Amino acid sequence: MGLVEFCSFEDSLHPCSNAILSANKYIRKMKGGSQSILVRANDGRHYVVKLMDNPGGPNVLANEYMGSLLAKALGLPVAEGKGICLSDSFIDGHPDLWFELPSGVRRPNQGMHFGSLFVGQTSGADRPTEYISPSRVNMITNREAFLGMYLLDVWANHQDNRQAIFRRNSTNELEVCFIDHGHMFGGPEWNFQGNPGSALHLELAVYTDLWHDEQVAFWISRFQTMIPELLPSVVAPLASEWYSGNLSELLSSLTDRLLRLPELVQAGVERTWRPSQQKSTDESLRLSDFGIHDLRTPDTRSAFHRGRATA
Ligand SMILES: Nc1ncnc2c1ncn2[C@@H]1O[C@H](COP(=O)(O)OP(=O)(O)OP(=O)(O)O)[C@@H](O)[C@H]1O
Ligand SMILES: [Mg+2]
Repeated sequence: MGLVEFCSFEDSLHPCSNAILSANKYIRKMKGGSQSILVRANDGRHYVVKLMDNPGGPNVLANEYMGSLLAKALGLPVAEGKGICLSDSFIDGHPDLWFELPSGVRRPNQGMHFGSLFVGQTSGADRPTEYISPSRVNMITNREAFLGMYLLDVWANHQDNRQAIFRRNSTNELEVCFIDHGHMFGGPEWNFQGNPGSALHLELAVYTDLWHDEQVAFWISRFQTMIPELLPSVVAPLASEWYSGNLSELLSSLTDRLLRLPELVQAGVERTWRPSQQKSTDESLRLSDFGIHDLRTPDTRSAFHRGRATA
């Protein structure tokens, strides 16, 4: 989000004036628990919009915003995040976008929602994909970003798999762009107790040979240097409708985790990246049975997924 745009909104310009980004064409609902929608905005570009108060959980919009801004500032490839206004007339005119809940349909409120700039074309042969086959991971020109994103997700205790979009560039290679940060920061509930986030991409072959101690040290040092300066500016413009958790508790958990990042990364290595010494008794293949050192060949992932599918 352009901070200036957001501040203008806070200064109560008409919420849907041309001075700020607003949706002017509804295209379709997207898959997923948050029931996001694809729209075209008054800048002529397309956005996947996560609506305020969506069924994905209470702090999802704040997480999306903080995750996309922090990752971008740290040099990781992420879809650009912006505030985007939906007016009452837009919402009333498109009942398809209303939330579908077990209890019935719920109308979203007008106001500022979170928009993720659509990566690539919305239709046609150049549409981007979320799926990557093991045989194509070597075509990803910026594949090393998966290591940095993994480490950022360890810090943020990301509670979901890491999602990414792959788009073809002019030389027919693939570029990765990370999306969906709604479950970073301890998940929608900002919970740092219990479950340590795993946050690996479902296609484990993308991590093949990425783990180098000096690269890991580089990212940790970068995070520990830059995040303390970045956090206040990322948090300051958050709309109060985008979260219901305790912001100062969140910041103190994140600050504490930043200091302990080497130790958290080490715990993650033992849990996730190195092969576990003890296979489960039923020999089923689990994530913890794989490590970066095992992920040398594309076939590994197929075996992992076959194992999951038949488990
Ligand atoms: N910036 C983007 N560019 C292109 N496609 C996107 C972008 N953001 C989201 N999408 C698409 O919209 C879908 C839903 O987005 P997202 O994963 O953020 O929502 P979600 O409700 O959290 O979904 P889920 O619960 O399934 O993870 C994604 O699976 C992806 O296909
Ligand atoms: Mg998602």
